[in-house]
Amino acid sequence: MLLAIETSCDDTSVAVVHRGRVLSNIVSSQRRLHAEYGGVVPELAARAHLRNFLPVAQAALREAGASPPELEAIAATQGPGLPNALLVGFTAGQSIAFALRRPFLGIHHHEAHLYSPWISGDPPAADFTAFQPNVSLVVSGGHTLLVHVYLEGSPRAAPADPTARGQDAVVTLHRVLGSTLDDAAGECFDKVAKLLGLPYPGGPELDRLAAEGNPAAYEFPRPLLREATDDFSFAGLKTSVRYFLQKHPDLLNDPRQVRDLCASVQAAIVEVLVAKTMRAAKRLGVGCVTASGGVSCNRALRRDLAAACRREGLVLRLSERSLCTDNAAMIGILAERKFQQAPAPASFDGEISPRWTLA
Ligand code: KG4
Ligand code: ZN
Repeated sequence: MLLAIETSCDDTSVAVVHRGRVLSNIVSSQRRLHAEYGGVVPELAARAHLRNFLPVAQAALREAGASPPELEAIAATQGPGLPNALLVGFTAGQSIAFALRRPFLGIHHHEAHLYSPWISGDPPAADFTAFQPNVSLVVSGGHTLLVHVYLEGSPRAAPADPTARGQDAVVTLHRVLGSTLDDAAGECFDKVAKLLGLPYPGGPELDRLAAEGNPAAYEFPRPLLREATDDFSFAGLKTSVRYFLQKHPDLLNDPRQVRDLCASVQAAIVEVLVAKTMRAAKRLGVGCVTASGGVSCNRALRRDLAAACRREGLVLRLSERSLCTDNAAMIGILAERKFQQAPAPASFDGEISPRWTLA
């Protein structure tokens, strides 16, 4: 059994995983705490993690029916994330590992998101052969990544990655194809929602209003849609909404026009995400597309990705809604896999890496 901890932003989460199965996954969201500030306040997030950590960890052990001596390893998010928030979970994890004399693993938050579509459903996470080469979209408040995920040793594998040498099991590898040049997709949702006076976090609220609006009512830019790059850029879209509202301030007083605006902005974001994901999938000849991260809860994104994959004959794996946003289960599933692959026990000399980028 492995205990996993996630405290990179505003969710305190602890999970217990065993052989690819999630025995418990407790998430305590700080959403309400930050709502009155309109965004995550790092200092408050760290203090709340400190307050929440022990009750959340105890609940995770209780729900899993696990006792500390049964834990074979401990893992925690090492980065990227808010430094003080990361420190709480990472230090707690190291301390537990030290006290129990167990190995400790620091995990990359975005790499863990790649695993969340495989945690539940069919086939389950333990069956990693289901990781046929795929293109993975990771869309969150802090990151927008397009990643090529493949198996070393499988007949359909991409060229060997030097970091995998020396490991003889089938290894899941990844290569980042593109990322955002400025704002993340979730940040764009949240900032546009703020311009519209919607409560934080704006993404889910904008999604809700957009469902009743006309996506063709207003035309907003589709940044980098046609350019031959897998990178994204959403800052310009947010700015164009700001200019639009400066020109049409009365629009905010009409709920119907607000819904149309939400639907139109959402359509622009979703079209870019879906088109670029599908283009990369076709170029690389993969048979599967996956999506994870908070924005992958978005209903229009899920619907349009599903339609595009159906058209192209590709398998689509979406994270279960509860696993789209930050959670420790994804940290644990990845950590367990790393733990099984790396014979040497992880050491305690790691430090948090708030700016760690996925290669
Ligand atoms: O993965 P996550 O919980 O945290 C980060 O690692 O950032 O993602 C949070 C982000 C926020 O920007 C939130 O507004 C967005 O995901 N989000 C959504 C939806 N649900 C969450 N964006 C659009 N539509 C949604 N339904
Ligand atoms: Zn995340």
